[in-house]
This record gives sequence, C-alpha cells and structure tokens, in this order.
Amino acid sequence: MNGQAFRIGYGEDTHALAAGRLLIVGGVPIASPHGAVAHSDGDVLLHALADALLAGYALGDIGEYYPPTEASFKDMDSAEIVKGVLAILDQHAAGFSVVNVAAVVTLDQPRLGPYRQRMQARIAELLSLEPERVGATFKTSEGLAPGHIQARVTVLLVS
Ligand code: C5P
Ligand code: MG
Repeated sequence: MNGQAFRIGYGEDTHALAAGRLLIVGGVPIASPHGAVAHSDGDVLLHALADALLAGYALGDIGEYYPPTEASFKDMDSAEIVKGVLAILDQHAAGFSVVNVAAVVTLDQPRLGPYRQRMQARIAELLSLEPERVGATFKTSEGLAPGHIQARVTVLLVS
C-alpha cells in the first residue's frame, strides 16, 4: 500500500478491589489500602492497553494469548503482556508504530493524579514513545462503583 495506513485501537478492563492487595496502575505501584483482585498483577491500564493494541489490527484479545486459567501467568507482570502483544503486532504489521495513547482510569480512591507522570513515563518506555504521546486521565465513579477499578485506552497506530 502506498502512504501511511492508520488504525485506531480501543480496549477496556475492570477488576474488583480488595483490601491488602497491591494496586498497580500503568506499571506503577500505588500507595493504597486496596488493590485489584486478579490472576495477574491486575494492572487494568496495561490490560486495556494490550487489548487496544490487538484491536487495532483485529488480532483478538489478551485472553486468547494469556488465558487467566494458565498457571504460569499467575501474578504475572502485566508489562510482559504488553511486550508480548507488541511482538504479536510486529509479526502481523511489520514496521508499525504507535502515534499516541489516551487512557482513562476510573477509581474512587486513592487519587491517581500524583502518579500521572510516572505512569506516562512507564507506558512510553514500554512503547518506545516520548512521554508527551501518552495521555492519562482519572475519574471517580462518584461513589457508584467504589469496589472497582476500570481502565479505557485508545491508541492510534500507523504502518
Ligand atoms: O471524578 P471526578 O470528576 O470527581 O474527578 C475529579 C478529578 O480528580 C479528576 O479530574 C482527576 O484529576 C482527579 N482524580 C484523581 N484520581 C482518581 C480520580 C480522580 O486524581 N482516582
Ligand atoms: Mg485485567
């Protein structure tokens, strides 16, 4: 194909919160009395990012490549999922690159604002991007879903 081919990817993830679990969002550990209940490290932002990347090239979703029933994926660092998904994309869309990322995390407590720069830097590092190409915004559920954390991620891809 001549010229650049753009693709949009979108992904979501939700996990329940429980006391005493580590809370990791966008690869960054957050000081919190509760964390995600999950088979892996429960990083909703990296899971939604991985699904957004796969969706951009219609390559299924992370459940197909990293089934939650697989014992070896227990407590897995979700950065490894993102790296694995980038390798899958490389096979199907050689030379692709990420233009930018826009992420939203919905969480009532704790506040994530103080961690924004660290999350943007970590995601940028994983995707080999400048941090200013990674937007991260945070919302509460206004008390409607205090026991959950949710992430939604959009990516623009070009090849
Ligand atoms: O959900 P709400 O609009 O009340 O959130 C107000 C602001 O609080 C957000 O724009 C965001 O800057 C911040 N916030 C945060 N961490 C959260 C939820 C919201 O820093 N977990
Ligand atoms: Mg998940």
